[in-house]
Amino acid sequence: MIEERLKEHSNLINTRLLVLLDERCADGELKEAMSYSLMAGGKRLRPSLCLMSAALFGDQHKAIDFACALEMIHTYSLIHDDLPAMDNDTLRRGKPTSHVVFGEANAILAGDGLLNLAFEVMIGDALCNKDNLNNYLSAMQIIANASGVNGMIAGQVADIAFEGKEKDYVVLEYIHKRKTAAMIRASVLSGAVLFGASALQIDSLSEYGECIGLVFQIVDDILDVQGDQLKVGKTLHKDSEADKQTYVSQHGIEESKRLAADKTQQAIAALSVFGSKAGELSALAQVLLSREK
Ligand code: IPE
Ligand code: IPE
Ligand code: MG
Ligand code: MG
Ligand code: MG
Repeated sequence: MIEERLKEHSNLINTRLLVLLDERCADGELKEAMSYSLMAGGKRLRPSLCLMSAALFGDQHKAIDFACALEMIHTYSLIHDDLPAMDNDTLRRGKPTSHVVFGEANAILAGDGLLNLAFEVMIGDALCNKDNLNNYLSAMQIIANASGVNGMIAGQVADIAFEGKEKDYVVLEYIHKRKTAAMIRASVLSGAVLFGASALQIDSLSEYGECIGLVFQIVDDILDVQGDQLKVGKTLHKDSEADKQTYVSQHGIEESKRLAADKTQQAIAALSVFGSKAGELSALAQVLLSREK
């Protein structure tokens, strides 16, 4: 069952995140702020995707540090996304946001700390696997590119820059592919690249990852309008308040749902090269389409 698998992954990831934080971060306010956001109860989608993808090629446990690094980068992006200068949000993962609890300076630094820690962890893991160093470097490159200035950061820049601007389909695709789909695609790809996936397998997983990544942000846009705040753990209706470029603002709810369903089918079709081995990734795509949190 996919739900049990996600729970199992969540437990593995939470345990390892705590160990990595303890090993590499001195006690104090910075660690407290990093830990507060990291352990606040996210869905752990990105690390779980990395583990599921690694499982296609062998031992998922060997990908655990890369999975944790993905979650650190994701959590940093949420802390910064919530800052007053960005989306100015006060609720995240059902709790007050980092800057509300620790102040803006510490929230910025906790984000910086998590981003840097992610790379410390991946480099440490690569150096423990020198016989496979090229694959580890390639996986790191995929993650760095996806989270970087042509990926998530570019998406976040455009998300803010196009607030209040005329709605534009090209801009919307640009933003969603970068701010969200890039990291989700990289989560899927990194697990595969670590263990030597072929070019054909990488192409298939790339298409799957980008499609579910887009669906993830479309559903996020829908939940901002018609989600249950207790389930979502974030303040609702923030996108319309800031007049963001979203699927809902451009296509309306019903059309957004239809587009998300189509993309989900495309994602599942892209997995055909793996046959029944990709059953979990396929089930996960369906879960992401109908998620309520
Ligand atoms: C929120 O991501 C930011 C988006 C890309 C929409 P998640 O919905 O995965 O947040 P957590 O990790 O479960 O809190
Ligand atoms: C954020 O998109 C994507 C990130 C890179 C963090 P949103 O701004 O829509 O995410 P939420 O709704 O605040 O989680
Ligand atoms: Mg945002
Ligand atoms: Mg936001
Ligand atoms: Mg959102």
